Amino acid sequence: MSIEINLNGRVAIVTGAGRGIGCETAQLFARAGARVVIADIDEASAHAAAEQIRAFGGDAFGARTDVTNADDARALAQAALEKFGRIDILVNNAARWTTKLFKDMTPEEYDANLRVTLYGTLNVSRAVLDAMTEQKYGRIVNLISDAGRIGEPYLTVYSAAKAGVAGFTKALAKEVGRYNITVNGIAPGVTHTPGSRDFIESAGGEEKIAKAYPLRRLAQPIDIANVILFLASDMSAYMTGQIFSASGGYTTIG
Ligand SMILES: NC(=O)c1ccc[n+]([C@@H]2O[C@H](COP(=O)([O-])OP(=O)(O)OC[C@H]3O[C@@H](n4cnc5c(N)ncnc54)[C@H](O)[C@@H]3O)[C@@H](O)[C@H]2O)c1
Repeated sequence: MSIEINLNGRVAIVTGAGRGIGCETAQLFARAGARVVIADIDEASAHAAAEQIRAFGGDAFGARTDVTNADDARALAQAALEKFGRIDILVNNAARWTTKLFKDMTPEEYDANLRVTLYGTLNVSRAVLDAMTEQKYGRIVNLISDAGRIGEPYLTVYSAAKAGVAGFTKALAKEVGRYNITVNGIAPGVTHTPGSRDFIESAGGEEKIAKAYPLRRLAQPIDIANVILFLASDMSAYMTGQIFSASGGYTTIG
């Protein structure tokens, strides 16, 4: 006998799913039976990721979406409803970060970090909320970061944006729990993705960073996607407003 997590009948939107953690999550959701909308500002990668899912028999489509734009976020939700009829799961994964000392950052750079990472999460959450409320079911999973929990040098504005997403996660959970919508966050440690290459390099390389992790390795995208799958499934039905670190033991916050 075995127990499996399945998302049969569920419809999921994953933002920033053209590559990295979002792409891995979308693939895993599809393998678990969900129909998936791949939203990414990079249109080619959104379509390619959806094609990969269709290639193994899953159901997915790509949608060019800039999460910083509230109209794009509304159009994304509309497209999901038109094509799949419902929205059960939203993973707010798209983010942007500049790896620099704060003293060297321009207002334009920190504006860009905040707009994608914080405002993007607000825009897409707002866009799906009516559908989830009406159907009295929803799972929102927000990608946070240990940077937002403990603060990370060279990632100051990103740390601020992720701390904002963490606060939003807890507050929204309290507003929408009565509609059977859960809102949780996952805080990955450093994970091998195209987006983390610069940070890994500027922090002294993989080996050096891994020494600070009790599990002595950085995460692979699947390590994070597995936790997101759990939070997006019915297995986590009684958990909301929580933030979980998946960081190889680096952050042990009570
Ligand atoms: N990789 C890590 O080490 C790490 C650690 C902690 C948290 N995280 C978080 O995990 C998530 C995914 O990280 P990743 O490393 O896979 O990222 P990544 O940079 O590899 O991929 C991010 C994706 O988001 C898309 N994107 C950027 N701006 C967008 C916008 N305005 N609208 C829509 N899409 C946009 C990009 O095109 C890209 O496909 C992020 O929220 C990140 O903050 C990552």
